[in-house]
Amino acid sequence: MAIKIYNDDDLAKLRIAGKLAADVLVMIEPYVKSGITTLELDDIMLKYIQEEQQAVAACLGYNGYPKATCISVNEVVCHGIPGAQKLHNGDIVNIDVTVIKDGYYGDTSKMFIVGETNLRNRKLCECAQASLYAALKKIKPGVPLSVVGDTIQPIADKEGFSIVRDYCGHGVGTSFHEEPSVLHYRNSENSRIILKKGMVFTIEPMINAGTWRCKLNKKNGWTVTTADKQPSAQWEHTLTVTDDGCEIFTIRPDETIDRVLHN
Ligand code: MF3
Ligand code: CO
Ligand code: CO
Repeated sequence: MAIKIYNDDDLAKLRIAGKLAADVLVMIEPYVKSGITTLELDDIMLKYIQEEQQAVAACLGYNGYPKATCISVNEVVCHGIPGAQKLHNGDIVNIDVTVIKDGYYGDTSKMFIVGETNLRNRKLCECAQASLYAALKKIKPGVPLSVVGDTIQPIADKEGFSIVRDYCGHGVGTSFHEEPSVLHYRNSENSRIILKKGMVFTIEPMINAGTWRCKLNKKNGWTVTTADKQPSAQWEHTLTVTDDGCEIFTIRPDETIDRVLHN
């Protein structure tokens, strides 16, 4: 299957879905405090998506996934299943929200720091966000998709961090995971894909403090941790390629990057 090109009507709907996903992350922020369980957070977000947004929580039931969101704490790389785990001061937490509105998907995640954490954790969170922003600033028609990995690799290298290789960004639109796979490390595969106006995909670098190697929890079939139990951080946006850059559908007001980038 080729990579889909979305038209203006599609993009209008993706803009709405992206905004809703971003709004969930804004809404949940004051609740992300020491003592709350990840299940309580998930319940609040599911209610908000269904009742306030009249939207669908895309993760719930996706390939059998049991909850509405993914909440990944400390050494959990991604696909943390909300449960009885309580948050503690110093935890770094990724919340990944995907909503479906009118058949279109918005997929986004960010890091939250519970109380105060150590310098290395702060640097890890900052590095992952900076790497996402740097990659977004390179997106435009005519550029190979490998610009993503080429941009993120030296940013992680400089801090002595590593980039997850087993999980990647993805095309998204009228389904959750479409072509292409967006690799966050330096690679040649993505150099064969030339960006075109109307492509829609995520960039969602997972940056590890130690090894890039991951371990899948065989008991639940979902939760991915770092192989060395060192922490991991991730930020994710959904975007479309425009005439001269990109538009970030999942931008929040607290961000230091514009929604529309002229690259
Ligand atoms: N939101 C994740 C992504 O960025 C996918 C989660 S799938 C789930 O692609 F089933 F684990 F929820
Ligand atoms: Co995604
Ligand atoms: Co996501």
